[in-house]
Parts: sequence; C-alpha cells; structure tokens
Amino acid sequence: MLYYYEIEGRHPLEGKLAVLAAKNVVLPMMAASLLSDTGVTALNNVPDIADIRTMIKVIERLGAIVEFDSENGRLSIDAKSITSQEAPYDLVRKMRASFLVMGPLLARFGLACVSQPGGCAIGARPVDQHLKGLAKLGAKIGEEHGYTVARTKRLHGGEIYFDRPSHTGTENVMMAAVLADGTTTIFNAAQDPEVADFAKFLNKMGANISGAGTSNIVINGVNSLDSVEHTPIGDRLEAGTYLLAALSTGGKIEVDGISPDNLTSTIFKLEEMGAKVHRGDNFIGITASGRVRPVEIITDPFPGFPTDLQPQIMAVLSQADGTSVIWERIFENRFIHVMELQRLGANITILGDRATIVGVEKLEGAEIMASDIRGGAGLVLAALAAKGNSIIQRVYHIDRGYQRLEEKLSGLGAKIVRKSR
Ligand code: EPU
Repeated sequence: MLYYYEIEGRHPLEGKLAVLAAKNVVLPMMAASLLSDTGVTALNNVPDIADIRTMIKVIERLGAIVEFDSENGRLSIDAKSITSQEAPYDLVRKMRASFLVMGPLLARFGLACVSQPGGCAIGARPVDQHLKGLAKLGAKIGEEHGYTVARTKRLHGGEIYFDRPSHTGTENVMMAAVLADGTTTIFNAAQDPEVADFAKFLNKMGANISGAGTSNIVINGVNSLDSVEHTPIGDRLEAGTYLLAALSTGGKIEVDGISPDNLTSTIFKLEEMGAKVHRGDNFIGITASGRVRPVEIITDPFPGFPTDLQPQIMAVLSQADGTSVIWERIFENRFIHVMELQRLGANITILGDRATIVGVEKLEGAEIMASDIRGGAGLVLAALAAKGNSIIQRVYHIDRGYQRLEEKLSGLGAKIVRKSR
C-alpha cells in the first residue's frame, strides 16, 4: 500500500506527548542479542517502525526467534540457535544498519557474510571504518560477489583510531571486541548518547566496557554474555522533530521521555531562534514566541548539532525573519529535501555543503515528495506551517523512523491524515 499525507497548515501544536525508544540504539541492541547463546533478550518501549521490522527480518533470517508485541513495544529475541551467518542483499539494501550484524556474528562464530550496503539517498556512506576496526581485531576481510566476508579463528584486542567518529562503526567494533581476547581501545569513537546506552546494555549482558559516551572507549574482552532485559533511552531525534514542529506552527508543547542532556545543541539553537524552552530530568517543553530569528547551524558528530535534525530545522528557518545558513558536514547529499521545500515557496540556495535560507513570511501548500526519513519529516513540518493544503507522497520513507507520525501530531492539534492510493 502506498501512503501519502494530506495536511492542512497553520494550526499551532499544543499539548503533551512521549517519545519511544531511540531507533538508533534499538537496532544495535537487536544485533547484539546475537552475541548470547543463552536466554532471551527483551527490549521495552520499542517503536513499531519499518527499520525495526527490517532488522527483525535480518535476525530471523540468521535463525533467531523473534516476538514483537507492537502494541506494548516489547521485543523478545531468542538467539540460541543461529543457523546462518549471512545477511542477504534483499534486506541490507533496505536498511544500511543491517551491517551491524557483522560484529556479533564474527565474535560468536568467527564468520560473517554481509551484503555490501551500497549507496543511499543521503550520501555514499562507506563502511571502511567498521572494516578497519574489525581487521585490527584479527578479522580477515574480503569482498565476494557483492558481499563483505569476515573470518577469524579468534578475535584479539587491539587499538583502533577512527578517521571520523562513526556511530554504527563504533557499535560494530564494540560488539566484536566484547568477546575478543584482551583489551580493545577505540580512539575518536562516536560519543552519541545511544552509544553510551548501548555500552550500558552490553555491560548488563556481562561485558566490560568503560568510556562509552566519550571519544575513547576501552573494552576488556570476556568469555561469554547473557541475554538481558533493557529499556533503551528515548529517541532524541523524534523529540527534536516534535519540538521543531511546535516552533514551526507557533505552538506550545511538552515532550516526555527524553533527557535534555541528549539534545543540548538543539536546545541552544531553539533558544537562539527565540523559543522559550523549559526542561526537567526527563522532559523538554517549548513555547514559540512570534516569528523565529535566523541562526547559523553546522551539523557535526555529537555533541554537535545532529544531521538528523537538519531538514526539520531548515523547514522552520525557511520562515525566519532574516537569512540563516546551514553547513551540512556529515552527509554530502543531505539537501535533497530542499527542492521540495522550494515548491512550498521557501527561498533556499545551495553551494556545496552550505545552504543559505532567506526566510519568507509564509510558505504555501503544494504537492511534494519525501526521499528519506528526516527529509520527509522536514517536509511535514513545513507543510504544517504552510498556508492551505499540502500532499506529501512516499510516506514510507517517514515510516522507517517514526511510529505513526500523523497520530502523534494529530494528538497535538495538527490537521494531518494518512491516505492511500
Ligand atoms: N563514514 C565513513 N566510513 C565509515 C563510516 C562512516 O566515511 O566506515 C562517514 C559517513 O559517510 C558519514 C560519517 O562518517 O559521512 C558519519 O557516519 P556514521 O557512520 O556515523 O553514520 P551511520 O552510523 O551509518 C548513524 C545513524 C544515522 C545518522 C548517522 C549520523 C544509525 C542506525 N544510523 O548512521 O541515522 O544520520 O549515524 O549521526 O544509527 C536516521 O536515523 O535517519 C539516520 C540516517
């Protein structure tokens, strides 16, 4: 079924909502469940989104028994009897994060065969840093018929320096290193809160990891790991999307289930844009006040401004009272939403990795098309603010990362309906 959104703009969002567990930590935790040959891994608050469904298929294909109670967000994985070490092209091409099974398969079985992920809409996204790290731990890596094949008799500890801090690269190497002989140190590791929560989860399983959440992570290998239950941290990207949606429509909302420490750079920018932000241990509230002020944004690895909120903040800045500049420093092609924002009347010019956004007083509704998860969310935010009606095609991109976005936004007073052709 092909879905589209019909949106009537200019209804300010108001109310309260809660985020679910972060997709970008549930995915590596699902992969890490493969490390244990005892018990059942249980994850709570898991969103029912397409990327989680794809990862379920990947690990089922390897032999895991998975139960997903999507109503209650409870995911159980029994990985005692894994029967295959191969993640095939038809699944990996749908979601690059499938590459996360490389590390655990190699650690547990000494063999992993994963389809090369190929390009993706937001950029080339190589996996060279993952492979460099695994090779340092003693894996022999080759390319065979479009697959990356890694083999080892036994992994050993090693020192790894990432040329750039890779989020899933850090997690892949952590999963290989937890069962290796000796100590591994990752220098210039990704410092994202999801990586820190991931280490917490692995340590619950019996791993010995310190430093996660900083740029140097130390992992002392252990002989075996148990399956555990865990409630992953809330999704800061989902939270950031709602906060920006409130600002886009001149509204006032509170998002629960999120630590403000995980969105510091975003909160600073919201305040610079003129919003009032209040926060507690586990919530962030925002109140818009008048037309937003222009700002400069540079996307950077955590704790820098997240590339995954760049399209959404661009949608808001397209209505600012002045000219904003965004430098996209993570992905070379993450401005694909700009052409669609222009169809709504935004005034944006791109030069290399820099977008210059001259704020307009009003966006106008139009028919537009999503091309990736976050770009699609950005278009929704723009359409919520635009005068008149918009249609957003290819909602399946948005469904990869947001559980029924339209229901949550409708709960806050947005006029948004999912329809099918
Ligand atoms: N890179 C390399 N070589 C590598 C790995 C990465 O050159 O081996 C480059 C990438 O091309 C990119 C930069 O390093 O320019 C950072 O990429 P990273 O590896 O951190 O990205 P990722 O792990 O593939 C995760 C998230 C993405 C998010 C990025 C950046 C997951 C499952 N995905 O991807 O999330 O955009 O980090 O923060 O954690 C999304 O949720 O919509 C999404 C795309």
